[in-house]
Amino acid sequence: MLSNKDISKAMRIKLDSELPQHPEFDDKYRRAPKRQVKLTDREIKLALKNALRYVPEENHEKLAPEFLEELITMGRIYGYRYRPEGRIYGKPIDEYKGKCIEGKAVQVMIDNNLDFDIALYPYELVTYGETGQVCQNWMQYRLIKKYLQELTQDQTLVVMSGHPLGLFKSNKKSPRVILTNGLMVGMFDNPDDWGKAAAMGVSSYGQMTAGGWMYIGPQGIVHGTFNTLLNAGRMKLGVEKDGDIRGHLFVSSGLGGMSGAQAKAVEIANGVGIIAEVDKSRIKTRLEQGWVSKSTDSIKEAFEIAEKYIEKKEPISIAYEGNIVDLLEYALNNNKKIELLSDQTSCHVPYDGGYCPQGLTFEDRTKLLKNDKEEFKKHVDESLIKHFKLIKKMVDKGTYFFDYGNSFMRAVFDAGAKEISKNGKDTSEGFIFPSYVDDIMGPMLFDYGYGPFRWVCLSGKSEDLKKTDKAAMEIINPERRGQDRDNYVWIRDAEKNKLVVGTQARILYQDALGRRDIALKFNKMVRNGEIGPVMLGRDHHDTGGTDSPYRETSNIKDGSNITADMAIHCFAGNAARGMSLVALHNGGGVGISKAINGGFGMVLDGSERVDEILKKSIPWDVMVGVARRNWARCENSISTVAEYNEEFKEEDHITMPYVADDNLIENAFKEYKK
Ligand SMILES: NC(=O)c1ccc[n+]([C@@H]2O[C@H](COP(=O)([O-])OP(=O)(O)OC[C@H]3O[C@@H](n4cnc5c(N)ncnc54)[C@H](O)[C@@H]3O)[C@@H](O)[C@H]2O)c1
Repeated sequence: MLSNKDISKAMRIKLDSELPQHPEFDDKYRRAPKRQVKLTDREIKLALKNALRYVPEENHEKLAPEFLEELITMGRIYGYRYRPEGRIYGKPIDEYKGKCIEGKAVQVMIDNNLDFDIALYPYELVTYGETGQVCQNWMQYRLIKKYLQELTQDQTLVVMSGHPLGLFKSNKKSPRVILTNGLMVGMFDNPDDWGKAAAMGVSSYGQMTAGGWMYIGPQGIVHGTFNTLLNAGRMKLGVEKDGDIRGHLFVSSGLGGMSGAQAKAVEIANGVGIIAEVDKSRIKTRLEQGWVSKSTDSIKEAFEIAEKYIEKKEPISIAYEGNIVDLLEYALNNNKKIELLSDQTSCHVPYDGGYCPQGLTFEDRTKLLKNDKEEFKKHVDESLIKHFKLIKKMVDKGTYFFDYGNSFMRAVFDAGAKEISKNGKDTSEGFIFPSYVDDIMGPMLFDYGYGPFRWVCLSGKSEDLKKTDKAAMEIINPERRGQDRDNYVWIRDAEKNKLVVGTQARILYQDALGRRDIALKFNKMVRNGEIGPVMLGRDHHDTGGTDSPYRETSNIKDGSNITADMAIHCFAGNAARGMSLVALHNGGGVGISKAINGGFGMVLDGSERVDEILKKSIPWDVMVGVARRNWARCENSISTVAEYNEEFKEEDHITMPYVADDNLIENAFKEYKK
């Protein structure tokens, strides 16, 4: 075995031997609760040994007890000492060191994900969704940055669950970064085994754009929420095809990382919203950002304000400081009509603090979670079941409830209310309420290829963002479809709606060719010196990147919703076509083993090389999803594919399904049964 001295000599890129000072933590920032995992003594020792792998030997003695203390008190070794002092944020690209533009651009994105204004638990490297981390610990953060500074245009950095495995030779048309998060071997693909792996420092929960380094603050989800609310109104409340939800009430919960988008979206859609939130600090953040307009701790007052604005047909968002279950109970007991209802508590991790049970304040919840997890779980289960029963009563009275991709219905089922599943036994046939993808996003957006395309102006200049907004707007034909009109209105008003938190970023739902044309136009603008370089990307919550049977692929009805071939192909195809960064994750918004999701980052440097990559990769990234949806007989995808096959006659070709008549199937089956 080589000595540690020899090992250190054999590495060029490594952490410095000088031990950083333990940084001061500002208690104005939220801290992650203790992650509860039962490790054996052997596993605890392994976790410690694993964390010390990053650190030169001379510091082991000092750090061993410190890391052990972190593991015992926080359930993870974050290596707090290695967190750089002060504020981390996405700076203008020129302020980063690096040997290629992609290496610098990725650093901007990572730092943006850790910005105090953006990240949910910045000291624990959690960007959003309660557990979604940029990487596992601060040693990895430092090392990844060192690698990105060394990365050249002929190399690829490989990152496995936050661990930078190394730089490997590739070529100019290869991805500069390939990363994965939380992938597990089938028989261990469950939250408990994953939890142990994470505590031992060998796996990371990347959520979607947290570990994919493409988060752009709550703006990322506002556009999708805006689209969802508009289309829910059109489907269920008799709103005109191109109308908005003025004069209508939407109620939900959560003003956290993504859920924080709800209040803003309802106002942009001209509706009235009451959003319950148990954590006052999150309400404060959203008020300061102007993402919610009013706040009250009185349910009565919340409804009074809402009713006033409904009558005036003017938009308003109201944060109710308290539990959603209390709010719903009040509404039922006082005959308050809720037209659109959802929930965005972090139900993908209800027992880890994602769901605050009725009867406990936020502070009580944190204490109980720390001191008695079993008791906490009991409270969560009781509250979820009550929550479900209240929703059911409301739905019976005409409320339209939809699951907002947070695994709410699954959590209710796991809590013991089996009747939330369609067959009352298991979840194989889905649930009694629709998910927003099932009813709205799937058929109205994903099946056409519309999805959460986004970009970051790496110069950090707001003028660049203004120019890109205008350029993107010019690409959209608002007369083509209702969806195009919504997207046009969105980008036209984006600046006015003050959506930027963190870097100069924008989200814009677009279909395959819309994304391609915008990307090419931006690259040309970079080439002409009109704007600085741009990072393109998307949320993993999209047409093509994600296989998630309860969410993104919940409207796939041919039985293939339990497979993950599409997400893997999307990732591999993006790598093959030369996207700058490609990511593949387990879990996402619904929890370990419940989804495989991936995303990309593409740096626009103005070059013709990038034009070529964009022409091939952007349509692929979307059309792999549309093609799969078409094969699953999703109607709107079939017509989208027919148009695509015609337009790309000479280049691409997608297999289409012959659709068998239901009566014919029934008759054939009857004959067989005889
Ligand atoms: N909006 C979307 O399109 C979308 C997309 C993907 C995932 N999700 C899912 O939505 C969920 C929320 O995501 P997030 O990033 O906002 O998480 P988050 O943890 O930052 O926010 C959830 C918020 O809910 C609050 N909360 C918990 N229990 C409550 C209760 N009983 N009453 C009132 N408030 C309560 C918490 O205090 C927290 O602020 C996650 O499960 C995420 O995976 C949403």
